[in-house]
Order: sequence, then structure tokens, then C-alpha cells
Amino acid sequence: MSKTVKLTIDDATYEFPIVEGSQGERAIDISTLRQRTGMITLDVGYANTGSCTSRITFMDGERGILRYRGIPVEQLAQHSSFVETAYLLIFGSLPTQRELTRFSVLLNDASLVHEDMKVFYQNFPRASHPMGILSAMVNALRSFYPELQDVEEEVDVTVTRLLSKVRTLAAMSYKISRGHTVVYPRPDLSYCANFLNMMFNSPVKPYVIDDEMVAALNVFWILHADHEQNCSTSTVRMVGSGRVNLYASISAGIAALWGPLHGGANQAVIEMLQDIAASGRSPRHYIERAKDRNDSFRLMGFGHRVYKTYDPRARIIKGTCDRVLAKQRIVDPLLDIAHEVEELALKDDYFLEHHLYPNVDFYSGIMLRAMGIPTNMFTVMFAIGRLPGWIAQWKESMDDNEWKLCRPRQIYTGPPQIDYVPVKSRG
Ligand code: CMC
Repeated sequence: MSKTVKLTIDDATYEFPIVEGSQGERAIDISTLRQRTGMITLDVGYANTGSCTSRITFMDGERGILRYRGIPVEQLAQHSSFVETAYLLIFGSLPTQRELTRFSVLLNDASLVHEDMKVFYQNFPRASHPMGILSAMVNALRSFYPELQDVEEEVDVTVTRLLSKVRTLAAMSYKISRGHTVVYPRPDLSYCANFLNMMFNSPVKPYVIDDEMVAALNVFWILHADHEQNCSTSTVRMVGSGRVNLYASISAGIAALWGPLHGGANQAVIEMLQDIAASGRSPRHYIERAKDRNDSFRLMGFGHRVYKTYDPRARIIKGTCDRVLAKQRIVDPLLDIAHEVEELALKDDYFLEHHLYPNVDFYSGIMLRAMGIPTNMFTVMFAIGRLPGWIAQWKESMDDNEWKLCRPRQIYTGPPQIDYVPVKSRG
């Protein structure tokens, strides 16, 4: 197979190397393009642009494959824990028993947050979205935990701090938003059980840890743990490329995830299903709207930039969602609507031709709802899950000698040079 490509511009021909990934993916290395030809590439939305090489996550959108450090996500969802998967992503291989125990101890040790941070929450307006609050709080962590001198220790400590404290901050924000007493983390509980306890325990109604809910949360977070160069991860890498600290980079990632086209889709799916239920119109009406080019309505939880087949995460979460609903003995009318929407879309020519299949967000909202998580916290749940991926990608970029300041270019389409006219002469 050819190792170079030729590009002809006017009368000149240039040769560029082909870079090959370990799974046979091929890319044209155009890093010398501008220097040699004076031209740049234009790729709005970066759909054809590889921003880095990475050893962390492999995705094949055509075949519906997702692997973390080579291990299929299906196997991790079945056998691993979120903490073990986080270790795998961040440190590159599955931990030994000793490494896993040490990592869990470090996470436990770092689980409390500075009491003064509670005051911040009280001053956010009532209607603030939890994603905005989380992004601000994570950025604020830097002020409470200043940089350590030893670079390696600083990264290690920051990684465990973030993984542990973001979970505490999220549960705390929920409790404070309801005016309830904050529940502190317990060292005897696992990562997922601890979160559920911090969310749902109360002096009037002690929370009884339910192993099935813990298992479901574990799967949910494993499925969200990384997804290569998506919008929020690229944001984390890009912000980090300016050599800002990890807290600020993650805070930016949380802000990017918030959008309804990205992580905010899990909240948008439930709102869409509720709108369908409230309208009294059939799901078919909404399918027709989604197909209408003159209507801005989109079927939330459908479609993906990379997956052109069923999202492998959606398959797993659908089964987990069914188990949670059965365990909680919940009959959710929104689930019936979701099933009908999915059935109609999967048979519809428009959706088939556009390769639009359910993505992970289509069923995860229904599952989180059944677990008692409030709708506006859904994307926060996604953020906690995505944290190991963001950290792993940030760490990889920092360790990469070739990683440099991210600075895309543009094709300017504004006016040519025009002279400044003083305001009194502008009429
Ligand atoms: N409903 C109806 N039509 C759609 C949808 C949808 N959900 N998604 C894409 N299309 C159509 C779109 O109208 C366009 O049609 P045409 O070519 O005829 O003009 C075509 O498909 C391509 O759309 P696009 O926006 O250029 O494709 P994209 O690759 O940029 O979109 C997406 C990816 C996720 C933004 C989009 O599918 C979408 O908006 N989906 C709904 C939001 C959603 O569920 N997001 C969660 C993604 S999974 C979580 C994550 O990993 O972030």
C-alpha cells in the first residue's frame, strides 16, 4: 500500500506521508502543508481532521466498536468496575490487585472537599444549571488546592483529587439545591455506592445501598469513560495545550459537554419524550418533524458524528435500563414512547439513509430517572463518567513531546481593508 500521497496544485506536485494507526486507519500528514504550499485545509467541524495520535481509545463508527486501551467496552461493562476502568484509561493498563487497592485508598483519602466550598453553592441563584455550577466549582478547586512543586506528584494527586471530589461536589450540589443537609463520603463504601449514598441518604430516610443500582451506575460510568476526540475531550486537550492546569482544562471540558448536541442530549431526550407525551400527538408526528428540513426539530438521542451504525454503548445501556426499571418496579410511559420512536426510526428510510441510530443518550436518561436522579443532573452524571477519559487524554497530551499549542487557522471572508471613519463623519 502506498506510503505517500501526491497533491498537485497548479503545476507543482507535493508528496505527503501517510500515517497508519495500529488498526489500519490511514491519515495524510499535512503538518508541512502551509509551509510548502502556502495553503491550509478547510474542514468545518473537524469531521475529517485528526488532531493527534492517541493510544487510549479505539472507535470504529462503521462497525460499532469501542475499546479502551484495546479492551472492548462490552467486556469492561460486564466484568470491570468504574474505578478499575478509570485506572486503565489513565495509567494505560489494568491495575494489579495492589495497585487497585492503593488507587481506591487514594480516592477515599481525597473524597472530602474544603468546607468553604459549600458557601459557593449557597450563592448561586436557585435556577442555576448544575453543569454551570460544576464547571465553576472544578475551576475553583485550583484555588483551594494550590500547585505542588513536584510535577509528578502534582499530576498524581490532582488526578485522584479530581476523580474523587467531582463526585462529592456533584452530590453536594444536589443536596444544597434542595435545601437538605450535605451527606459526607464514607470510606467503607465503593465509589458508586458512595455517590448514591451522598445523593439519597437523609436523616429522615436512611438510604439502603442497593447492589443492582450500584451495578447499573457502574455500567453507566464505564460506558461514558472515554470516547476519543469528541467535543469536550478536544476542548480539554486544546485548553491544556496553552499549559493551563488540569482543573481549568476539565472545567472547560464540563462546559463543552453541557451542550444538547453533546452530553446534554441525555437531558434533552427526556424533555423531548415528555413533550411528546404532553402534546397528545403520536411519535410518528415527531419522526416526520425530524425529517422535515424546514423544521429545526431533531430526534434527540439519535445520530452520531462517528457511529454510522447502532452505538455499542446504547445496546448495553438499554439492557441495564430494563433491569433497573424491573428492579424499581417502575412503569414509565416515557419508555413506551421511546420504544415506539426507536421502532419507527429504525424502519424509516430517512433514518436508514442518514445512518441515524439510537446513541447512548437515548436510554440512559430513562435509566437515570428510574434511579431517582433529577433530570437537570443527567449531564453531571455523564461528566463524572467522562472524567477518567478527559484526564487520560490531558495526561497523554502533556507527555507527548510533539503536542503543541492548538491554534487552527481560518479562511477570512470579511471585508477587505477599509479606513476608519470618525463617528462624527458617519452620519
Ligand atoms: N434527527 C434528525 N436528523 C438528523 C439527526 C437527528 N437526531 N442527526 C442528524 N440528522 C441529519 C441532519 O439533519 C443532516 O441531514 P441532511 O444531510 O439531509 O441535511 C444529516 O443527518 C447530517 O447531520 P449533521 O448534523 O451534519 O451530522 P453530525 O455528524 O454533525 O451530527 C449529531 C451528529 C450528534 C450532532 C447529530 O446526529 C444530532 O444532532 N443528534 C441529536 C443530538 C444527540 O443525540 N447528541 C448526542 C450524541 S451521543 C453523546 C456524545 O457522545 O456526545
